[in-house]
Amino acid sequence: MLENLNKEIISFKETAIMEIANFGRNREQITGHKVYPAWFGEGDASTSQIICDKSIDALNSGKTFYTYQNGIPELRLQLSKYMNEVFNINTKPEHHSVVNGGMMGLRLVCDLIVNSGDEVVLVGPVWPNIRSSVLLKKGKIKEISLKLNKNGWEIDFEDLLNSITSKTKMVFINSPGNPTGWIISKEQQELLLKHTRKFGCWLISDEVYHQITFNGLAAPSFLKFSKPNDRLIVINSASKSFDMTGWRIGWITHPEELGEHIAKLVQITTTGVPEFLQIGFIAALQNYKNITNDLRQRLKKSRDMMFDKLSTWNQVECSIPEAAFYAFFKVKGMDNSLEFAKKLIVETNVGVAPGIAFGESGEGHLRICFAAKEKFIQEIMSRLEPILNKN
Ligand SMILES: Cc1ncc(COP(=O)(O)O)c(C=O)c1O
Repeated sequence: MLENLNKEIISFKETAIMEIANFGRNREQITGHKVYPAWFGEGDASTSQIICDKSIDALNSGKTFYTYQNGIPELRLQLSKYMNEVFNINTKPEHHSVVNGGMMGLRLVCDLIVNSGDEVVLVGPVWPNIRSSVLLKKGKIKEISLKLNKNGWEIDFEDLLNSITSKTKMVFINSPGNPTGWIISKEQQELLLKHTRKFGCWLISDEVYHQITFNGLAAPSFLKFSKPNDRLIVINSASKSFDMTGWRIGWITHPEELGEHIAKLVQITTTGVPEFLQIGFIAALQNYKNITNDLRQRLKKSRDMMFDKLSTWNQVECSIPEAAFYAFFKVKGMDNSLEFAKKLIVETNVGVAPGIAFGESGEGHLRICFAAKEKFIQEIMSRLEPILNKN
């Protein structure tokens, strides 16, 4: 039956994060014992009431029809106000298109830019769906690896610049990064943008974690250094900063002339984000200071609680991330993170993401999402300690 389906899709492998989640869920069913899930990148708090209320009102007042492909004008206006205020830039509503989550943004951008055989430079370890989106378009990936040293995750910036040539179609940066929490500096952003300008390639910046920082400021955006004709697209999302993962709302910030082409792609994929959800998201943006302050406080507490332990454990090498909500750490002597993560499920009932899911440079590491309540973190850390802190 499968032989006359699309071979590319059939041969596509499930990510190692999904593999471990399925393993953990099966195990839970078979044994009847709870498996504590820390494999996905998702907070455990539900969306603020103020956002839900606005959406419910909109739903009750009949906002149940097809909507503009790039998003309703009120939301695009609010997005431009938000982005201009947070990054001290000067965008217009026409620079922002609303999409069904950052994931959809990634896919649309790859549809727009990547043809079979095109070279895409990306920095790893990186969230697997980014790599998959490029591979689905048959792009060829050239990967530059971050390195963990005593100052945290760092890039060999010269290496990154040198990897960009006249053959490069697109450079992909995810900062703050999933899984590492790496933040590209403003200076590097400015230099990299200049460099891509020189080669005429696209620079795609995934900034979905821009509000998840622990120094009180949003992480820097490439938009701060952009000129109107730059081939720069920034992908963003309501998911992480506003506890809205299940709403499936994101936005892309792009040169104005791309708007109509993005609209066509939205039309033939999801035909747009439901209007009552867009209206709820306007309330999120209007109240972003309170919402993100509260989120950062919660996350800082859980980060510190996790690293108070993790950084003292014998089998672990780690650095405390300044952004995003992941502990991504090296386990001494571990060379098969998928098998090790399965063993952790069997022996501790805790599910973590194996580093190999984030590319070859992620092997030897594990990722735990710390966007969780105190009790959950205490529970998983006490279960993991006998293995990760043994002598
Ligand atoms: C780096 C990165 N980009 C994009 C996304 C997509 O998020 P969403 O589709 O929920 O907006 C994620 C989600 O985990 C992510 O980690």
